[in-house]
Amino acid sequence: MKLFLDTGDVREVKAAAEWGVLDGVTTNPSLIAKSGRGFRETVLEICECVPGGAISAELVATDYDAMLKEALEIHSWHEQIVVKVPMTENGVRLTRTLSDRGVRTNVTLVFSVNQALLAAKAGATFISNFVGRVDDIGGDGMQAVRETVEMVESYGFDSEVLVASIRHPMHVVESLRCGAHIATMPFKIFQQLFHHPLSEAGLKRFLDDWNAAGLEIFSKAKV
Ligand code: E4P
Repeated sequence: MKLFLDTGDVREVKAAAEWGVLDGVTTNPSLIAKSGRGFRETVLEICECVPGGAISAELVATDYDAMLKEALEIHSWHEQIVVKVPMTENGVRLTRTLSDRGVRTNVTLVFSVNQALLAAKAGATFISNFVGRVDDIGGDGMQAVRETVEMVESYGFDSEVLVASIRHPMHVVESLRCGAHIATMPFKIFQQLFHHPLSEAGLKRFLDDWNAAGLEIFSKAKV
């Protein structure tokens, strides 16, 4: 499963890229607005931080013609950019147009397998299935992910299922169990994937034992 960072903060992307396990980045209009910086400059810097990674950048128009114009503009900025399109009638129509032109798309705000089916049929590269927002209102966000992965696989669609709106590390575990292709998460949750109390306690004990024995890795140079 690919791991994406969900952020508009270039510093977070730089830090996560150094770990060597980052496959891409998703942004959305709220995250870009929160960054306090320009859209194009932010997305381009993110592309530089993750060479070869898929970087999703979302359009904001709702009218079809305006959406197409924005999509082509965003697409022209960098080859790594995946145009993020909302799940609406115009969004699905646009996804079909972009897919026919070889432009990669990420259909966002998908909450049901029916919506995912429309995105897959339109040729979406990624289908962003939001889980946390469903859990927030007492639903089971992972249910649509399970059904979408099954639908994509049993009907042989090329789309990859991207689990979005991740709120905690268990959402990542559940994404793996569902067979999702990608999980995108905030920086803080990405960091939490590293941690286990037994890893931390284990490392402390190893180092304490080593130091107590006065051992060294590098032999002292002879004079
Ligand atoms: C996905 O691409 C979205 O940017 C994101 O995961 C939304 O998450 P939220 O529900 O925490 O805003």
